Amino acid sequence: MTSTFHPPLRTLMGPGPSDVSPRVLAASARPTIGHLDPLFVGLMDHVKRLLQFTFQTQNELTIPLSAPGSAGMEAAFVNLLEPGDKAIVCQNGVFGGRMKENVERCGGTAVMVEDRWGDPVDLDKVAEAINAHPDAKVLAFVHAETSTGVRSDAQQLCALAKSAGMLTIVDAVTSLAGIDLQVDGWSADVVYSGTQKCLSSLPGIAPITFGPDAVAAISARTHKVQSWFLDMNLIMGYWGEGSTRAYHHTAPVNAIYALHESLLMLEEEGLEASFARHEANHLRLVEGLSRLGLDMAVSECHRLPQLNAVLIPEGLDDAAIRRRLLSEFNLEVGAGLGELAGKQWRIGLMGCSSNEININRCLNAFEAILKD
Ligand SMILES: Cc1ncc(COP(=O)(O)O)c(C=O)c1O
Repeated sequence: MTSTFHPPLRTLMGPGPSDVSPRVLAASARPTIGHLDPLFVGLMDHVKRLLQFTFQTQNELTIPLSAPGSAGMEAAFVNLLEPGDKAIVCQNGVFGGRMKENVERCGGTAVMVEDRWGDPVDLDKVAEAINAHPDAKVLAFVHAETSTGVRSDAQQLCALAKSAGMLTIVDAVTSLAGIDLQVDGWSADVVYSGTQKCLSSLPGIAPITFGPDAVAAISARTHKVQSWFLDMNLIMGYWGEGSTRAYHHTAPVNAIYALHESLLMLEEEGLEASFARHEANHLRLVEGLSRLGLDMAVSECHRLPQLNAVLIPEGLDDAAIRRRLLSEFNLEVGAGLGELAGKQWRIGLMGCSSNEININRCLNAFEAILKD
């Protein structure tokens, strides 16, 4: 016999999804209307404007893709790259590796700039790679590496690429709304994110923005975009301004209600206030962890406030502790990813999860378990 699924009320302090506020959940439960209903079309326009505010951009092509952050990454690469193109890809964690995979699947060549997992992207190495490969079309990097908790200098990386006439692809899945990200101010060309991190909305949507140079590069393509679903030429017809929308796919209507509500909440709080809250709560958490004898994995100047990588002390059983946090405290924290598995915990303070109650709950739970 099947029965309705009733999930427990967890505290989500992993690498995402983050806690979704009751206000956003309530928005998602409102009646579904048609995705071409004039009222929904009006909502789409408002969501686009709120995303422009969030990305700090005037880019017309700023939309929520109906698919998760990975599709945002894929959309960036398949639209900018054509077979034979070269891209410089920075890797300092898991997600740079996925970028390489995307370049190769587009028929392009990835020139890798590698840094130790736990360090930011090295600007000097990137400058060297740009000098050595002036024919590269794209520089791609992750602003906030969720796998390591490291922030890279997106502003300087964009400046390096621009001065060499290259386009940038910026992964802002974890950075958007948690730390400053100025798409126009930094001249970033394609920037994508996810709804389940610092926006604290339902997972499964990828906000993305394309600047004028990126749009020009897409228009100048000589090969069709290899993905029908992610071809921006087609998606623009669906998300374009006004009432003449061409059917492309069926938008996840209720998830867009949720995104709209979470963006309204962000607008009410203000971007600067959101960044400041993430920073203040990060400092609170770090102080509490240090009282428990737990050390951070990333040097202070490169830490992300929304993703705190903590070194697991010698002799502790990572999986057993996370199991106890979940079963006894209803608390989710993240495991180390890739080569950091078993060595680090990743404690997320993203969006609605970034609050004092969560921090105290997390510290009390760790204290109780570590005593045992
Ligand atoms: C930096 C980064 N890029 C891309 C992704 C992929 O996003 P999604 O899991 O929504 O597909 C993630 C997800 O954690 C991420 O942290």
